[in-house]
Amino acid sequence: MERFDDLDDVLRSCWNLLYKGAVQVKDDFHTPVLATTNGQTPNARTVVLRETIPAERKLVAYSDIRSGKIEDIQQYPHACWVFWNPSKHIQIRATGKVMIHHKDELAAEKWARIAPAKRRDYATTKAPGNPKQFAENDLSPFWNNSVLNSETTDLFFEHFVVLATIIEEIDWLHLHREGHQRAKFYWVKQEWQKMWAVP
Ligand SMILES: Cc1cc2nc3c(=O)[nH]c(=O)nc-3n(C[C@H](O)[C@H](O)[C@H](O)COP(=O)(O)O)c2cc1C
Repeated sequence: MERFDDLDDVLRSCWNLLYKGAVQVKDDFHTPVLATTNGQTPNARTVVLRETIPAERKLVAYSDIRSGKIEDIQQYPHACWVFWNPSKHIQIRATGKVMIHHKDELAAEKWARIAPAKRRDYATTKAPGNPKQFAENDLSPFWNNSVLNSETTDLFFEHFVVLATIIEEIDWLHLHREGHQRAKFYWVKQEWQKMWAVP
């Protein structure tokens, strides 16, 4: 198995893996864990990595503005993404500040590209996480009774949110038979500080 001996190669490989994770739906990095905090308890959940823009150090997820994670992020905007690739034996933890795009130009641009049927994730009557009486779905009656196209489903745009994290820290771990490898990267004064670390 490949071993790394150059921190620039490691950093490049991190962003390549993160980019591939966003564009390939079957990639192991496509469904990372996104961890937030409310100041007292940690909260972590699986999300879909929708977009990676290496030049902007940006990782993007979509969500519902009413979900619990939004309250966390509004109070404590730093979040940690955790990725694991079992065939490459690589874990990446990427931490940064999350920007919430709600009803703005960027959110509208992403929303326009979501197929009407896929917009059902944002069409529940109650906020995600709220208790409900029955197991059946909680979709707005509109969803079940109307013709679904991009105009009619625009109604649910108000629930849609784009979470864009600008990464400031990367912790890379490579499990290896001949000795695990770990490196850390910190974005300081407009450049990456790079260092090897004890795994
Ligand atoms: C494979 C998978 C992908 C998911 N993708 C997303 C996602 O992209 N955005 C999202 O908000 N929730 C997604 N979820 C649901 C979250 O894990 C979580 O249950 C939900 O967002 C509520 O979390 P919260 O109460 O901490 O906000 C996904 C769950 C799974 C299992």
